[in-house]
Amino acid sequence: MTRICFVCLGNICRSPLAEAIFKQLAQAANLGEQFHIESAGTGSWHVGELPHANSRQVAQTHGLELTSRAQQFRGLDFERFDYILALADDIRAELEWLAPSAVDRAKIKLLRPYDPQAGGSLDVPDPYYGTIHDYERVYQMIDRACRELLTEMAQSVKS
Ligand code: 4NP
Repeated sequence: MTRICFVCLGNICRSPLAEAIFKQLAQAANLGEQFHIESAGTGSWHVGELPHANSRQVAQTHGLELTSRAQQFRGLDFERFDYILALADDIRAELEWLAPSAVDRAKIKLLRPYDPQAGGSLDVPDPYYGTIHDYERVYQMIDRACRELLTEMAQSVKS
């Protein structure tokens, strides 16, 4: 079982999409049992809330229902996961600061570089103040990145 947590700032726009997309891709590849997937935010403002209406709407157009509730990522959470996937570089920096040990710090990775169309960008941009089109672009970035991430992780599951 590989345990992954996707982390953004509020856990209502970007990381709930990553959680739902990765889960669906893993299930479609018959690898659903191999992964435990969660998402969280470095901030606490939205704890307990459903994802943002725009994230839910965009997900729905792709046949996905977002049902997660926002949670804050804390230092103690490192021990619950094998990989912590940061949705942007500022989140990566915050997570590195939170990590209790070097072993925990080594669990942190950036999601965006897995997107074949990232062109060197490290971030899935924050769509919080954007339009529904920004959310759709974010969906596409996360979808492309999660496909590559799953391919890489599936190889290490087999080997
Ligand atoms: P997320 O987006 O990090 O993708 O969930 C945001 C959600 C809330 C806020 C900022 C970004 N906020 O400032 O409350």
